[in-house]
Amino acid sequence: MSDEIVEALIESARVVRDNAHAPYSGFRVGAAVISESGKIYVGCNVESASFGATLCAERAAIAHMIAAGERRVVAIAVFVDATEPAMPCGICRQWISELGPHADVITATPSGTKRTTIDQLLPDPFVFKRAE
Ligand code: THU
Repeated sequence: MSDEIVEALIESARVVRDNAHAPYSGFRVGAAVISESGKIYVGCNVESASFGATLCAERAAIAHMIAAGERRVVAIAVFVDATEPAMPCGICRQWISELGPHADVITATPSGTKRTTIDQLLPDPFVFKRAE
């Protein structure tokens, strides 16, 4: 993945973070995925008064990609305005793993960027197999 693509993903995640709906935590998260076609899809967290119904930024971005008819995440960036990067939560790791096997995962803050892969973050994912 080129540095230009990584920068474009981080910038997309940084910009969409402004649209986060986080009245309860105040923790605004932006995410951007790049698909196999090379298009970028963005998402932000959407909180609910029923806290467990909150949608994370990563899944919002992936849902956006799916709604556009695409099926594979190549890389995902997550941006937060904090001192430490926000690593994707467990549920988001499962989504990334299913819809982006081997995807690159980039986490960014105003002071720096970390790069890893979904294989490192979720080495032994749940895979659904129906009993024969
Ligand atoms: N959040 C995300 O958007 N992504 C994650 O991977 C973890 C958490 C959001 C959910 C909630 O709105 C806020 O961060 C605090 O948990």
